[in-house]
Amino acid sequence: MMRVARILAPALLTLTGGIALADDYPQGCVSCHVATEQQDMRLNVIFDHIEHSMAGQRTLLIPTGCARCHADEKGVGGALSKLIHRSHYTDPVQKKFINEFNGDCVSCHKMDTDTGQAEIRSGKRNWQLRILSAK
Ligand code: HEC
Ligand code: HEC
Ligand code: HEC
Repeated sequence: MMRVARILAPALLTLTGGIALADDYPQGCVSCHVATEQQDMRLNVIFDHIEHSMAGQRTLLIPTGCARCHADEKGVGGALSKLIHRSHYTDPVQKKFINEFNGDCVSCHKMDTDTGQAEIRSGKRNWQLRILSAK
């Protein structure tokens, strides 16, 4: 009995933790990718790291605006879903996304209960546009 409780407890914690935290990211990407005292995780900073073109930083609605180039495989940047699913569910990123941020499907998606359709959460970029930029 003791053993079962010990196995179940963390599982339940993870489950309820994930559900409770889902509403902490009402706008998806930009609700989680923020600047804190410890770390600036905003996507404009990440774009610099991965050397994405300025088009990333110039996008207003994240991630819906990215569809201009990432709507599907035929877009110049490829399908965003694949890029984003892979990066958030692959180590070492996965560890951080899941273990530190309690991230799961509903961190980025939401359910429209009227239509029964899963949608992507979206929000305005949370950085200033750099008009003059060296890169
Ligand atoms: C619950 C939090 C959370 C949400 C929501 C989230 N991310 Fe992330 N994302 C992370 C974490 C954590 C990392 C890893 C960052 C690190 O290692 O410093 C990451 C990494 C990334 C990276 C870098 C991947 C790489 O290859 O280095 C990109 C790009 C990214 N996220 C884009 C997005 C986009 C676009 C969305 C919305 C569709 C999104 N993220 C939603 C937490 C989140
Ligand atoms: C003007 C077109 C354009 C826009 C707008 C754009 N991208 Fe991209 N993106 C690209 C291209 C081109 C690549 C490179 C594809 C390749 O390497 O085959 C890319 C690559 C990426 C990658 C993979 C980088 C890597 O090194 O693994 C991520 C993640 C990404 N884009 C996220 C985004 C997000 C999020 C947005 C919206 C905020 C966005 N992009 C807006 C064109 C665009
Ligand atoms: C870090 C953000 C993020 C997380 C977490 C995430 N998704 Fe997505 N997902 C996306 C983005 C971005 C798209 C592309 C949306 C668009 O183009 O409108 C997408 C698209 C999709 C699609 C439609 C396109 C496709 O790939 O077939 C499905 C289905 C989907 N996601 C399922 C899931 C499921 C199931 C989970 C949990 C296991 C999940 N997603 C977790 C960001 C995320």
